[in-house]
Amino acid sequence: MEYTEKVIENFSCPKHVGELEDANGVGQVGSPACGDIMKIFLKINDEDIIENASFKTFGCGAAVASSSMATDMIIGKSIEEAGKLKNSDVVDALGGLPDVKIHCSVLAAEAIQAAIQDYKTKKA
Ligand code: FES
Repeated sequence: MEYTEKVIENFSCPKHVGELEDANGVGQVGSPACGDIMKIFLKINDEDIIENASFKTFGCGAAVASSSMATDMIIGKSIEEAGKLKNSDVVDALGGLPDVKIHCSVLAAEAIQAAIQDYKTKKA
């Protein structure tokens, strides 16, 4: 399978790249499949709404495209809604990924969950 236009677009001009200075939820996961690393930064307000999100990755192009799309999808959402985001939702939004690249989208989804968990732990 070839990469879709959406994947190429999100890879060549990724949104929300870098570290968020004022992040109050940070999550990092590594992929057992390839050894790559993904870090997600979330700025969550008092109403538990994600005001901003960004990512840093030592991952491949599909990981960049997945996290660009995933961060875009959760901005403006509650942490409850964002926590339900599955990697398949990200893959669908990208118009599909080659089978060997599905695990890259898992990294993005898992790092978001880890960042939400980090926020909840700090808040508790
Ligand atoms: Fe490792 Fe894609 S191959 S994140």
